[in-house]
Amino acid sequence: MKICVIGTGYVGLTTGAVLADLGHEVHCVDKNKLKIEKLLEGEIPIYEPGLKKLIVRNKKRGLLHFSTDIQGVMKDCPILYITVGTPTNKDGSQNLTAIIEVINTIVQTTITSHKTIITKSTVLPGTNEWIHQSLIEKGIDSSMFDVVSNPEFLREGNAVFDMMNPDKIVLGARRTKPIEIVKTLYEKLHAPYIITSLTGAEMIKYASNAFLATKISFINEMARICDAYNVEISHIANALGTDKRIGPYFLNAGLGYGGSCFPKDVRALEYAAKQKNIVPEMLMAVQNVNDSQIDLYIDKLVNKLTSLDGKKMTVWGLSFKPETDDIRESRSLLLIDKLLERGAEIHAYDPIVHLFEPAITIHQDMYESIKGADALIIATEWNQFKTVDWKKVKDFMKGNILVDGRNIIDPKIVTSHQFHYIGVARK
Ligand code: UGA
Repeated sequence: MKICVIGTGYVGLTTGAVLADLGHEVHCVDKNKLKIEKLLEGEIPIYEPGLKKLIVRNKKRGLLHFSTDIQGVMKDCPILYITVGTPTNKDGSQNLTAIIEVINTIVQTTITSHKTIITKSTVLPGTNEWIHQSLIEKGIDSSMFDVVSNPEFLREGNAVFDMMNPDKIVLGARRTKPIEIVKTLYEKLHAPYIITSLTGAEMIKYASNAFLATKISFINEMARICDAYNVEISHIANALGTDKRIGPYFLNAGLGYGGSCFPKDVRALEYAAKQKNIVPEMLMAVQNVNDSQIDLYIDKLVNKLTSLDGKKMTVWGLSFKPETDDIRESRSLLLIDKLLERGAEIHAYDPIVHLFEPAITIHQDMYESIKGADALIIATEWNQFKTVDWKKVKDFMKGNILVDGRNIIDPKIVTSHQFHYIGVARK
């Protein structure tokens, strides 16, 4: 099948590469010339494990192409995937500029054959119905296209694996014919199908992310309570996880959730509920817990150091989670902002992210970054932070405070090196 994937961000590139690997002829298009030039030269604009290998392999096989000629490619392909960004405004409403541009490009392309338009971008309930209506209002005959909502559930850092091994494939459409077409695209994948309406598919995506965010805020609230009762939170999480109705995942307490999805999607679902005069009490509570989670650690630091003014703090981890270079709504950066506000001098190290941020000093070496530090804060759970030489760290630092923002370090080990360990609900 000849496929056009519009938008070469995390979702678009992974979708294109995986579809090509499944044997389809895929053309990834983007209006960003520089990005496409780089992709044509073999440079991958994001860090995503396994993605480069997949792109190189399928380019060689002649199944994966990159172009800025969006209309030319669209004209040729019966399948169009929309994978453009859909950022959320501060009030939770969605910025649909990129989607509107895609609609206009489809309209400007003289369509002579049927198009199955598959939306993978996360869009608020009702958006795909609106896309359908917009295309008709702009003059495209309804017999010439179908819109399918096919949200994706891949995690950054595991994107290729997740797309190759989905738990489910959600398809929403107005009729069954386009569903059958999309099923043929995925025939090599083994996953149950959930077939629903356009709006139903959109809602599943938001419900999934909101539920996962709820799990995280729940365990973070439990951690606060456990802290007060001197109870180890991992014991609680492990016990909860054995209950099949709860499941063991997304119960890691720490600095809270960040990234390009959970914060914006929970905010957007709250907005969508309020648009219908529903007060989403739980969604608001989930966000409140998450928003105040960083302050919990700041308070613990202040408790120990009295003032953060002029203190040298080293932050390990800048990405919003390990195995990605994505820093969107990273908890680490939010924490750094709050530390800077209190007058701290910030040094930072991340294995992949190399920011230019004049207010902080970025180091290329993790041990260099801690020289003379009063406190070390682990903000992202990169594997290399789990196996450090604590004696060396202690010798390099001036102070002895270790803030474990992801509860990944065994307090026993670091306290044996005379560290003062700050986590949440750790014994
Ligand atoms: C999330 C979902 O997990 C994907 O299913 C979904 O497709 C994606 O959003 C999306 O909507 O595109 P992602 O944002 O890549 O994926 O990352 P997650 O692994 O879900 O982590 C999100 C945040 O939650 C991270 O900041 C992570 O550190 C935090 N987290 C996760 C916790 O604080 N505790 C946990 O137990 C798990």
